[in-house]
Amino acid sequence: MEPVSFLQIYFKNNGLKLLFLSYKNTIVSELARVSRTFIAYLKRPDLYPELGRKIIKNIFNRNVAFKGKEKTLAWASSRAIPQQEAILKLFGVEMKPFSKLFPQELKTAQQKEKSCPIKMGGAGALELIYEACEFTEAKSVVETGVAYGWSSMAALLSLEKRGGTLYSSDMPYLGQNGDEYVGYVVPEKLKKSWKLFRHADRESLPRIMGEIQEIDVVHYDSDKAYDGMMWAYSQLYPRLRKGGVFISDDINDNSAFQDFCEKNGIEPTVVDFEGKYVGVFVKN
Ligand SMILES: C[S@@+](CC[C@H](N)C(=O)[O-])C[C@H]1O[C@@H](n2cnc3c(N)ncnc32)[C@H](O)[C@@H]1O
Repeated sequence: MEPVSFLQIYFKNNGLKLLFLSYKNTIVSELARVSRTFIAYLKRPDLYPELGRKIIKNIFNRNVAFKGKEKTLAWASSRAIPQQEAILKLFGVEMKPFSKLFPQELKTAQQKEKSCPIKMGGAGALELIYEACEFTEAKSVVETGVAYGWSSMAALLSLEKRGGTLYSSDMPYLGQNGDEYVGYVVPEKLKKSWKLFRHADRESLPRIMGEIQEIDVVHYDSDKAYDGMMWAYSQLYPRLRKGGVFISDDINDNSAFQDFCEKNGIEPTVVDFEGKYVGVFVKN
């Protein structure tokens, strides 16, 4: 007979109990998160439309968010290239790391992120966003999803050279009371070129569209559900000027980006960025 280790005996006797306790903790913390988020929504009547949509989605349409995920994962992984290669291919320039281009701004932003009491999503493909703005000589950029404001900072560092404006939409992390920290790492001196709309995209984007005619660069990084992406793409794409750049993060969460490109005859570039895929194209 095989010698039985202490761990094996312990798990045999206590395994079920441990499993039950860990399930119980997960359920309790999930319930606490949902209640916190719900209470935060109740305090913000301007976000009631989004709350209604979320409730309906969670009851009737839970799986639609991930529609086509497998298909797109195969599609994206077969064509993905590194950020550096994409920048050269699309914009004809060698990528310079942000740490070389803006060492001081990056260092200060990293320190601010560390000191922020709220934890949010990390930085995306900053060089890609910055070079897209440089390539288009952007004066008008629209982004969805701000969080700490890494992508906002990247766009603003280019826009400030031309007196351009960044229009951002972000519905903050309600469960964490993170309202005041949206855009926390964006340097004060850049904020004069920034218009931040603090509602869900479905409310923010029509307002943003009311303020601008043509968009030079789109950066989509907010709602990652299939229908949310499709809806926002259909609002943003017609306003993107010819020669403008469209960037969407996390295109591997579902097939919205792939389906949108196929429907509109767009041949996109897929960027492999830190284990996720970013979709990008220049509008013909
Ligand atoms: C990944 S983070 C954005 C990261 C940011 N682009 C950066 O580079 O630092 C996604 C953000 O989108 C916001 N968001 C999610 N769903 C949204 C919606 N329907 N409308 C507006 N913002 C939304 C989240 O609150 C979060 O702040």
